[in-house]
Amino acid sequence: MKIAVIQGPNLNMLGVRDTQVYGPMRLEQIHAQMKDFAGQNGIEVDFYQSNLEGEIVDKIQECYGDADGIIINPAAYTHTSIAIRDAISAVNIPTIEVHISNIYRREEFRQKSMTAPVCTSSIIGFGPFGYHLAMVGMMQILSEIQAMQRAQQEATQE
Ligand code: DQA
Repeated sequence: MKIAVIQGPNLNMLGVRDTQVYGPMRLEQIHAQMKDFAGQNGIEVDFYQSNLEGEIVDKIQECYGDADGIIINPAAYTHTSIAIRDAISAVNIPTIEVHISNIYRREEFRQKSMTAPVCTSSIIGFGPFGYHLAMVGMMQILSEIQAMQRAQQEATQE
């Protein structure tokens, strides 16, 4: 089982950037914790960060046929990017959107997500712990899909 973790613009600055909003943890630390947890559960994780919209679109497209699930924080592109929304929709892979901060308690322009409506679910406002919750959530989603596929296979064999 493989999960792609895709991080949008300025998330490479975590630990330096707006620490009163995003906390002191660096992206590498968040990824190290996720990798440990994934390893304990026999899951492969692929981490990616880009500040460029087109590169994020490319990465989502690369997940097609390669990743079983996507955990994405599109960062500022959340609020603007039809291209990232369309890419998520196109690959049709279970996708969880994560936001470290509670975007609904912030400026009005952050309160609209272009991408959330095409994601399976969203985890918002738990700080960096949200990424761990997303891993747990993704494992649940993928095991439900596997169980459904098994049941369908059994039904066709009968
Ligand atoms: C963010 C929220 C966005 O509004 C912001 O542009 C970010 C981070 C979050 O994780 O809380 O870069 O996605």
